[in-house]
Amino acid sequence: MVTDVKGLVDIDQGLLSRRIFVEPDIYQQELERIFARCWLFLCHETQIPGPGDFFTTYMGEDPVIVVRDSGGRVNAFLNVCAHRGNRLCRADAGNASAFICSYHGWAYSNDGRLQAVPNLKDAYFDELDQSKWGLAPVAQLDTYNGLIFATFDRQAPPLLDYLGDVKWYLDVFFNRREGGVEVVGGVHKWVVPCNWKLPADNFCGDGYHTGWSHLSAVQTRFGGDFRVKAATGGKSVATGNGHCILTLGPDEPSDPAVPEILAYEESILPEVRKRMGPRLDLVKPHVGTLFPNFSMLRSVARVFRVWHPRGPDKTEIWNWVFVDKAAPPEVKETFRTIALRGFGPSGGFEQDDMDNWQACTETARGVVSRRYMSNISMGLGHETYDEDLLGWVSDYRLTENNHRHFYNRWTQVMASDSWENL
Ligand code: FES
Ligand SMILES: [Fe+2]
Repeated sequence: MVTDVKGLVDIDQGLLSRRIFVEPDIYQQELERIFARCWLFLCHETQIPGPGDFFTTYMGEDPVIVVRDSGGRVNAFLNVCAHRGNRLCRADAGNASAFICSYHGWAYSNDGRLQAVPNLKDAYFDELDQSKWGLAPVAQLDTYNGLIFATFDRQAPPLLDYLGDVKWYLDVFFNRREGGVEVVGGVHKWVVPCNWKLPADNFCGDGYHTGWSHLSAVQTRFGGDFRVKAATGGKSVATGNGHCILTLGPDEPSDPAVPEILAYEESILPEVRKRMGPRLDLVKPHVGTLFPNFSMLRSVARVFRVWHPRGPDKTEIWNWVFVDKAAPPEVKETFRTIALRGFGPSGGFEQDDMDNWQACTETARGVVSRRYMSNISMGLGHETYDEDLLGWVSDYRLTENNHRHFYNRWTQVMASDSWENL
C-alpha cells in the first residue's frame, strides 16, 4: 500500500506530521522509493586503496560490498550469496581475491563473477550456468572527491547531476587542498533508537539547537575552545534536490581553537582560497546533509557520517573522521582526538543530539501526540535564491529553511513512482 505523503507534509505552512517518524508502512515506502532509488554513500576511496580491498556497508537495509577488483576497478554488489541468500562477506573490511559463502561454498571472484560451485558436475550435472549467478551489482557507481556513491536505480540521473550545485560545498569539505582528504582510523558504528530523518534534518542546518542543546558541552571546552557566537554572517543554503548546507559567516571562527589546528589553518589559507575561489569570501560551509542520509561537519570536528535506516524508529550511525591528506601527522592526530571528544558514541555534542532525536521519535509513538504537527516554519517566506551561493538562502542564520527543502524533497521522492515523474 502506498501512503499519500503529500497530506503529511505541508511545506507552505511549515508543518510536518509526526507519523513519518514511526509508521512502518511509511518506512517501507522509504526503503522502496528513497533508498532503492537515490544515490547513497558507500565509503571513501582511501578505505579501499589497493586491488582486492573491500568494505562492507548498507544501502538502506540492503547489505552491500564495495570492492576494488584485482584490475583496480571499484565495483559494488549486494553482499548476498546468489545461491540461497546467505550474507556472503562477514568482515567489515579487508582484502580478498575471492569471497566464499559460508553456507555451501559458492565462490565469487572480487569482480562479482561466480567462479566455483561445489559438486557442480555430480549434483548439478554440469547444468548450472555460472555466468548467470554472479553477485548482483548496483545499477550505477561513481565518485566525487573520493566519496564513492551508488544507486540501485538505472533511471537515476548521473551522480554529478544528482549532486548539482552542492558540489562546490563538497569541495570545501573534501577537496580544499591538493590531494583531497583521507579517512583516519576505522568507522564508529552505533545504534540510536530514533528515526533516520531526525539526525539527517538536524545536520541539514539546525543552527537553532546549538546554543541551547550543546551549552554544557561547549562549556566543558572538551571539544577544544569552541564558542557558540551570536554571529550574524551565517547562511542556510539549500542547493536543490534536498541537499542542504549551513554556513558560518566569512570571518567567523570555524575551527576548533586548538593552537596547532589554528596554526595549520592559517598556513594553508592561501592554497584554500586559490582553490575554492571568491565564494569563500562570502560563507564558510560548516555542516550539511546530502539527501537522503549522508552528512558532514567541519567546525567542531571533521567528520562525515551515514544515517543507516534500521526500522522506523532505529538508526545505525556510521561515523568517519577525515583530514586533509597533505596535513602533517600531528595535525591529523589532533583532528582525530578532537572529533572523538565531540562526535561519535562518546562525543559530548553527540550525546546531546542523540537524546533529542530519540525523544522526538518516542513521543511520535503516542497516538495522540502523533495527531499534532511538528513546526518547521521558522523563517518561512524569508528566503531568496542567491546566484552567488547557488541555492535558496535564508535571510537570517537561524531558520528552518533547509528543513523545509529537505522534507519537500522527501515528499517529492516518496510521492513519485519513478525518476521520470520527479
Ligand atoms: S547460500 Fe551461499 S552457497 Fe548456498
Ligand atoms: Fe547538535
